[in-house]
This record gives sequence, structure tokens and C-alpha cells, in this order.
Amino acid sequence: MKALDRIAVEGGTPLEGTVRVHGAKNAALPILAATLLAEGVCVVEDVPDLQDIRVMVDILRALGASVDYSPPVVRVDARRISRTEVPEELMRQMRSSIFLMGPLLARYCHARVSRPGGCTIGSRPIDLHLKGLAALGASIDEVHGYIDCQTRRLHGAAIYLDTPSVGATENLMMAAVLAEGTTVIGNAAREPEIVDLANFLNRLGARVEGAGEDTLVISGVQGLIGGRYAIIPDRIVAGTLAIAVSMTGGDVTLENVRPNHLGAVLTKLREGGVEIETGRDIMRVRSDGKLRAVEQVRTAPYPGFPTDLQAPFMALLSVAPGMSIVAETVFEERFKHVSELCRMGANIRVDLRTAFVQGVPRLTGAVVQASDLRAGAALVLAGLVAEGTTVVEQAHHIDRGYQQFDEMLRGLGARVRRLSQS
Ligand code: EPU
Repeated sequence: MKALDRIAVEGGTPLEGTVRVHGAKNAALPILAATLLAEGVCVVEDVPDLQDIRVMVDILRALGASVDYSPPVVRVDARRISRTEVPEELMRQMRSSIFLMGPLLARYCHARVSRPGGCTIGSRPIDLHLKGLAALGASIDEVHGYIDCQTRRLHGAAIYLDTPSVGATENLMMAAVLAEGTTVIGNAAREPEIVDLANFLNRLGARVEGAGEDTLVISGVQGLIGGRYAIIPDRIVAGTLAIAVSMTGGDVTLENVRPNHLGAVLTKLREGGVEIETGRDIMRVRSDGKLRAVEQVRTAPYPGFPTDLQAPFMALLSVAPGMSIVAETVFEERFKHVSELCRMGANIRVDLRTAFVQGVPRLTGAVVQASDLRAGAALVLAGLVAEGTTVVEQAHHIDRGYQQFDEMLRGLGARVRRLSQS
């Protein structure tokens, strides 16, 4: 039923007002997985109310943890769990369940998950997760699409990641906190979500140093206690809203944001002619709607321009006069929004992993398909400035990353409606 959700957007209204940004999905997911490491109760605050979070809660329950979920607070008691196998039907609903491997192995010496398939943004291998766990002393068997890992006890190791994978860094950090001895992870991811996970683990008594830098040093401890922790604000939601305001020529104050997590994005918005004032956890975005092309946007691991904002930013560039160049270096198939933006009148040519965006004076409403959550958000943004009505189909993708996106935009004056079909 949800797959038939559609969002209809009438273009032409500048966004105005104040909005509070919710907690970060990509920080909440690993932190909820990490609650399995604790021998006490964990209370996690500011968890966004999203489909992927509900799947993670279901997985924790299926493993035998007792979980109270009253958004935005999740209380997990994982003192005793009854199984170490992640049920396949839940695993299939969310790729990120792969990082249950680290905590299950660390605390229970066994984990069984099904291998996640590719997805619409690329093939998404997990070799770095598996190589790292093997270096920590896990033996890994793959049979019939299942990955079975076991160990007598994990031990510290020196690991170097070929690419600074966010998920692999998180998985290995969670595995290493209870390992015997010291683990060093070189070429680690430096995303704010990595720092949030490290802060959470340290709150429980772990010893993780260097989070936010490219080398993590983790000294194994005997056990972790419970604790209370609040998730950081979602930088991708904040960035998406900032882009939306810029496109519509609006004036919006974003609350519960960390502008310092958005350095590359704010630089590009300013280059595009947008005025941004920042405080410690607040940000005002103002634009007269007269945008300029941006010479080059190149996605890269943090602190580079986030791949998760590439599609929304391309929606903006599609109406910025001049030629902009967008290079996607993180995922190989993350240009599915291009054909849909072109249906709305955008002028974009793709050559392998580079898009050449020639800004057009206006977009026109059309029926378009969201292929993944960020592509879906980008199409809604395009609809906000298009002439007439845009209908974004497969809008359930958007709900994976933005809590009540339509309501959030309506609160700022946008004419956005959800059309549900049964
Ligand atoms: N990679 C490998 N081998 C691995 C793991 C990754 O080659 O074992 C490659 C990937 O193929 C990709 C690159 O490394 O080319 C980066 O992937 P990464 O592992 O960093 O991504 P992820 O952990 O799977 C997280 C976010 C994504 C976000 C990326 C990049 C979560 C739950 N997901 O994915 O978020 O795009 O980092 O920042 O944290 C989204 O929210 O829309 C989303 C897709």
C-alpha cells in the first residue's frame, strides 16, 4: 500500500519560517546496533521516526532485546539476547543491518546475517567489513547467501581501509571495543556520524580515540555499561532544507543544526548566491531566488561534499543559469534522478560519473519516479520551483530518510500534499 504513496507539489511559493531538524538517521542506526554491546539499559534520544529505524527496532526485538520505542526515544535492554542470527526478511528491508555483525561478534562471539544485495545507487560491496572482522580474529563462512562469523574472542589488530567506508568503520569500531588489546583503523571514515557513535560508545565505558580523524585507536575493555545519549541533528536533512529554501527564494531559520557539519555544502550554496548566517546550532538561509551556476561539485567522503546531497543540489543547479559540473565519486549509479529532472525540463547530460547541468529558466511539473530517498527529495525540491503540479511517485523512499517531509515543507508554506492510494 505504501509503495503507492505519491507526493504532489505545486510550485512557486518561497519557503519561510522556522523548522527544527530531526536527529540523524545514519547516526541513530549504528548507535541502536551498538546497544547490543551494553550490559545495562541504553536510552537513546532524538531518534528520528523513520522506516529504517523501525526495522532496526524489529531486529533488536527479534534478537531477544527488550525495546520500548516511543519516538523520539528508544530504550533498549539487551542484557540478555536469545539469538545471534538476523532474520532474513528484516535484513532484506535494510542494508545497514550489516553492522549488527560487529556488536554480535564482540559480545556473543557469533553472528549470522544474509549478504545484502546491491541497490539502486550501486553494487555496495562489504569486503572491507569482512576483511576487517577477519583481521580482528573472526572466521567467516559464506554459504547459500548467508555470512556466518564466529570467534573465540576478538583481538586487537592494525587495519587499513582501502577506502574510508562509513559502514565498515562503524562495524569495526563496534567489534573492537570489546576485543582483547588495541585496534588501529587507518584511513577511517571521518563523518560526524562516526564521531557520534564513538561518543556513544565512550559514554558506555569504551575507549575510542581519534574519531573524526583518519586514524582510530580503540583500546578493548572488558564490558560496557548502559547509558543515556542524544543523537546529533541530521546534516543531510538540514542540507536538503537549505537547498530547498535557496531554490524557492525564501528565508528560513533552521534549528537543531550543526553548521560545522555542512562546510562543503554551505560553501557551494554561497557560491551559488545564497546568504547563510550560522550560529552554533542554528542557521538562517536567505535567497532572492537568483542563483548562479557552480563550477564544480564533487562528492567525496567527509569533509567533502556529501553524496547524499548530490541529487538535491543538482535540482538546484538545474535552475541556476550557466553550466555546472557535478562529479559523483562515491557511488557508481547515483544519477537516477537525472532522467526525471529532464522530464521536468532540466538540461542535464551525463558522461559516466559526471553530469553537465545547463541551468534552465524554469522547470515544468510532471509525473516523476523517486528511485531512492535522496533522488526522491530532489524531485520534490524541483517541484517546489516548477510551473504547475509535480507528482513524485514511489514517495515511500523519501520516508526512509526524512521524517514527514511533506509536513515539514508545508510548515514553511510549501504547497505539498501526500496522495495515498489503497
Ligand atoms: N565500499 C567498498 N567496500 C565495502 C564498503 C564500502 O568498496 O566493504 C565502497 C562503496 O561501494 C562506496 C564507498 O565505499 O563506493 C562508500 O561506501 P560507505 O561504506 O561509506 O557507505 P555506507 O556505509 O554503505 C553510508 C550511509 C549512506 C551514505 C554513505 C556515504 C548509512 C546507514 N548509510 O553508507 O547513506 O551515502 O555512507 O556517505 O550510514 C542515505 O542515507 O541516503 C545513504 C545512502
